Amino acid sequence: MTRFRIAIDGPSGAGKSTVARRVAQRLGYLYIDTGAMYRAVGLKVTREQLPWDQADSIVEAARRARIELRAGPRGLRVLLDGVDVSGEIRTEAAGQAASRVSSIPGVRKVLVRAQQELGRRGGVVMEGRDIGTKVFPEAELKIFLDASEHTRARRRFAQHRHKREALNLEGILEEIRQRDRRDRERADSPLVQAQDAHYLDTSNQTADEVVEKILEMVQAVEGKSGSG
Ligand code: DC
Repeated sequence: MTRFRIAIDGPSGAGKSTVARRVAQRLGYLYIDTGAMYRAVGLKVTREQLPWDQADSIVEAARRARIELRAGPRGLRVLLDGVDVSGEIRTEAAGQAASRVSSIPGVRKVLVRAQQELGRRGGVVMEGRDIGTKVFPEAELKIFLDASEHTRARRRFAQHRHKREALNLEGILEEIRQRDRRDRERADSPLVQAQDAHYLDTSNQTADEVVEKILEMVQAVEGKSGSG
């Protein structure tokens, strides 16, 4: 059976991670969270206290960063230079740092190449912002996941409530707006829906409903390619 590349793009809080992970599990595919890679670079830059206006040293840090994604029993584990940073990269501050480093073309070049290598053999569900447009423009199936701003803020709020970050819904809404603006307006690989992507609004759907819909799409693609 052909092992496809499935690209899942969309704004933060649209449900990409949950959905992508479950789709990968059901298909026995590799799950790759590209946002975690930008977050790890953002964390490295913050730790090394590199000035935000020095793009060259930030690109150099991205090149030096050893980022490993490992599937574990409690979800994805992310290692930066050999150290587990899975928790640290999930803070809102790390998200903002990720968004900033991701607007630097040299950083994108380094990470896109690594992502292309990870998905080279197919059998991957890769989620991010530019997977269907830049990383795998030839992906067999592309999904653009979206949800209303308020739904996305509520989901982020629920995720953060378990942690000790002091955040309120209004604050999160504002951060989501800021981050979306930066992701959609950056010059290099902005967040846009690929022309051939399927648009799914998840505002009124559970993750499982979305997963089932995507699995139906996979079957349709399999049928068309005659490999099903
Ligand atoms: O999906 P996330 O929230 O973990 O992503 C963190 C940031 O990384 C996000 O603001 C945009 C950036 N990103 C990107 O530019 N391209 C990707 N393929 C994935 C993430």
